[in-house]
Amino acid sequence: MEKSFQIQLLGHNAWLLKVNNLRVLIDPFLTGNPVAATVAEKVEADYILVSHGHGDHLGDTLQIAKRTGAVVVAIAEIASYIASQGCKNTIAMNIGGTVSLPFGRLKMILAIHSSTLPDGASGGTSAGFLLKLANGKTLYFACDTALYSDMALLRKSSVDYAFLPIGDLFTMGPDDAIEAVKLIQPRFVVPCHYNTWNVIAQDPLAWQARVEAETDAKAIVLDSGEMIE
Ligand code: NI
Ligand code: MN
Repeated sequence: MEKSFQIQLLGHNAWLLKVNNLRVLIDPFLTGNPVAATVAEKVEADYILVSHGHGDHLGDTLQIAKRTGAVVVAIAEIASYIASQGCKNTIAMNIGGTVSLPFGRLKMILAIHSSTLPDGASGGTSAGFLLKLANGKTLYFACDTALYSDMALLRKSSVDYAFLPIGDLFTMGPDDAIEAVKLIQPRFVVPCHYNTWNVIAQDPLAWQARVEAETDAKAIVLDSGEMIE
């Protein structure tokens, strides 16, 4: 078995993770995303993880799942919505739960944020994802969240890569994201959910410098379309 992974930023909080031969999309917001690195019609996926119901995260999930047959993994309310829209291939879970998938063990982590579906129904609680890959690397996708002190519990999971929002207004801003790095203590941190629109404009290189001055983590700034291997 190939012991490698690759993660590509598709813009905002959309990620394409490749582990072994599996493609895992996270929050595939491509249509209407001013910084999208690809288009919904072209992206391939075996699994799609959805953090919450907002359009900039649920995004093109339905269209991509229908075309590719990808399994959609989401909190129960969102999984029910996806199934009601004609995608029966879902895994429903909830905060604190873990599921073993062919690419690794996935735990649904609390995110402090709202969640509404396109039809106005509640999307349940917003989520983040902790993913322990089959190759041993541990990834934490905070997705849309405020800073909260229980992020310190993630330290026990020895996070290799943390993907944290820094855009402010809708999520943590740069100051709180620095505090999150101190609580989580990942080896590497990758900022996201900024500069998609003017209202979440931030300077990622200034934030990177702060991470390296104020914490023991190394920050990796990705442009949309860039990847970590
Ligand atoms: Ni949101
Ligand atoms: Mn968002």
